[in-house]
Amino acid sequence: MATNNDAPSAAEVAQAGVSEAQIAVHWREEEYYPPPPAFVAQANANDPAILERFSEDRFPDCFTEYAEMLTWDRKWDQVLDTSDPPFWKWWVGGRLNACVNCVDRHLQERGDENALIWVPEPEDAETRYITYAELHRRINEFAALLRDFVGAKTGDRITFHLPMVPDLPVSMLACARLGVIHSQVFGGFSGTACGHRIADSKSKILVTIDSYYRNGQLLDHKKHADEAIAAAQAEGVEVEKVLVWRRIPGEYHSDSPMVEGRDFFIDELLDGYRGQTVEPVSMPAEAPLFLMYTSGTTGRPKGAQHSTGGYLSYVTGTSKYYQDIHPTDTYWCFADIGWITGHSYIVYGPLSLGTTSVMYEGVPTYPDAGRPWRIAEKLGVNIFHTAPTTIRMLRKLGPDEPAKYDYHFKHMTTVGEPIEPDVWRWYYEVVGKGQAAIVDTWWQTENGGFLGSTLPGLQPMKPGSCGPAVLGVFPVIYDENAQEIPKGSGKAGNMCIRNPWPGIFQTVWGQPERFVETYYAKYCKNTDSKDWRDWPYFSGDGAVQAADGYFRILGRVDDVINVAGHRLGTKELESAAITVDEVAEAAAVPVIDELRGKIVEMYVSLKPGNEASAAVEQKVADAIDREIGKIARPKNVWIVSDMPKTRSGKIMRRVIAGISNFSDVGDVTTLANPEIVDEIRHYVQHEKLERGETPRELSEQEKQEIAAYGHAD
Ligand code: WTA
Repeated sequence: MATNNDAPSAAEVAQAGVSEAQIAVHWREEEYYPPPPAFVAQANANDPAILERFSEDRFPDCFTEYAEMLTWDRKWDQVLDTSDPPFWKWWVGGRLNACVNCVDRHLQERGDENALIWVPEPEDAETRYITYAELHRRINEFAALLRDFVGAKTGDRITFHLPMVPDLPVSMLACARLGVIHSQVFGGFSGTACGHRIADSKSKILVTIDSYYRNGQLLDHKKHADEAIAAAQAEGVEVEKVLVWRRIPGEYHSDSPMVEGRDFFIDELLDGYRGQTVEPVSMPAEAPLFLMYTSGTTGRPKGAQHSTGGYLSYVTGTSKYYQDIHPTDTYWCFADIGWITGHSYIVYGPLSLGTTSVMYEGVPTYPDAGRPWRIAEKLGVNIFHTAPTTIRMLRKLGPDEPAKYDYHFKHMTTVGEPIEPDVWRWYYEVVGKGQAAIVDTWWQTENGGFLGSTLPGLQPMKPGSCGPAVLGVFPVIYDENAQEIPKGSGKAGNMCIRNPWPGIFQTVWGQPERFVETYYAKYCKNTDSKDWRDWPYFSGDGAVQAADGYFRILGRVDDVINVAGHRLGTKELESAAITVDEVAEAAAVPVIDELRGKIVEMYVSLKPGNEASAAVEQKVADAIDREIGKIARPKNVWIVSDMPKTRSGKIMRRVIAGISNFSDVGDVTTLANPEIVDEIRHYVQHEKLERGETPRELSEQEKQEIAAYGHAD
């Protein structure tokens, strides 16, 4: 257990940029944990001069340090072009290929080293070791197939709907080799959700797999392709070919028939491309590399478009300094490649640095909560990266498991949601055995890479805070009136970033107005200005900044619910519920959950002439499964006679969120129908107690978050 004696030394404090006087404040909040000396000694970033190199007066040139970590076909002429704000362009004039940077350039020195280690979920199945040379061969063969069989060309979009199999990074990098824009949809999303994303990106090709293992079962995945194609078709987009990987070579485990002339087994096609190599396409730095869809406040999916040069330089630099990746490490990011974390910190960042990146197919606790630690022990994993949800689950199901295994982590990461200090301490002491540096990295799909984190070899950790902003990133917290909320004030506000950085997404695919509107309009100081200083980026997260500059992220201030680190748009959930015939109106609210951080509850009211019934509740839950996926499945569906509404007819989500959380509903005097509040409260809370859901006392932070929910309404 860390004590106050573990607080940073004067030197460390100076490095972290705080004064002695300010430390006192920390002792009253959370204690500092200094980075372990053995970690510091070997860290990529352990010289405080790095903080100088990335100081604000060196912006934007400071980021050339990241660009120089890459191999360029042609060097850039201009670091940052701001002529068309807020569509920033990095490394203008530069040309490179992302696949070359992640694979080819390591062949000579590290061709026989493992690029990927893939651990299938069944524990008796063989672990696959894929060297850089083999990865190169597989990527080239698949790229040849995409080019010659499918006719994929630079700038085309291809959608993947793949689980955690090595075919996914192979597919991504094959696209990157050709300059084709990939759009991977999380494997756990429904076919319908995948179809909307196919339609939005106008992909003609879908790459999928017949099946995969999850929680001990071989799941039929190909069936989702049929739903996806139907959903895309309904939006006027015709998928021409479906390329199907097979989880077990030569076998087919799906009830969905292969459609003649449309569906093809990739392993069979590849026989025609064995040994072929494909010349990598030299891409402009600003060419899009991939799309990553994320939730927003309207139902239409939002494809975050990431660039080749800016993105790759940013994930490479942050992987080096914040993940502390050395080529000789065995790095395991326990996330899904279907999310941005997996793109940046399983595939592009680690491979660009030439390290060994571990991929695991299944659920963390299969067959028991010791599984991750057995994997870590067996493979010699020394960097471990996961989300608070996984940590909470492993702590609950196997609090003593880590001690039973002989692994040694030098570094660990938490990402995706706020982590409770208590959970953080278990991670540090039990998982990390008190020997690992931890980074709590705050960022978003739109950002490409980390925005808030401690530099693990230089800045002390503080449980529950992500830390200061990362190198070259300069945040500000604004209130609703664009007034800056100073650090140490104890007040929360909207977390914004004052400057562009290379990893920032380029636009929302096909919706440039939405890009400007959602992320820049709120705090833009002058829409005519071409000075980046006038265009702060609005993150949609609430935050407070302590006197030492460390940020504590409080969660979303917009209509997004973060379930187990997965962003779900309230509008998407509500639109799914409204597809049920009987439903007139729907509202989604977050409920604080011990394991998953938050979980969704749906409130629906029915069209006249319909009776509340368990069957309707079930239909709503099924509609959400179908439209979005199982991760979004609501904990409860409440059928109510009416929603609490403002006089202008808007649903007051914070009121029902308060009820669902046994928390304060706040001021209801402005409602058009205040009497409904007690009726709903009585019904819902009574029913919850009947179902054995015991209310838990919420922390101040949780209460605030619930009270602020849907404040945009
Ligand atoms: C939340 C995931 C607290 C935040 C990389 C953000 C976090 C959203 C943290 C983005 C963290 C992410 N501490 N909250 N370390 N990291 N978040 O787009 O609300 O899937 O806006 O990107 O997750 O989720 P996304």
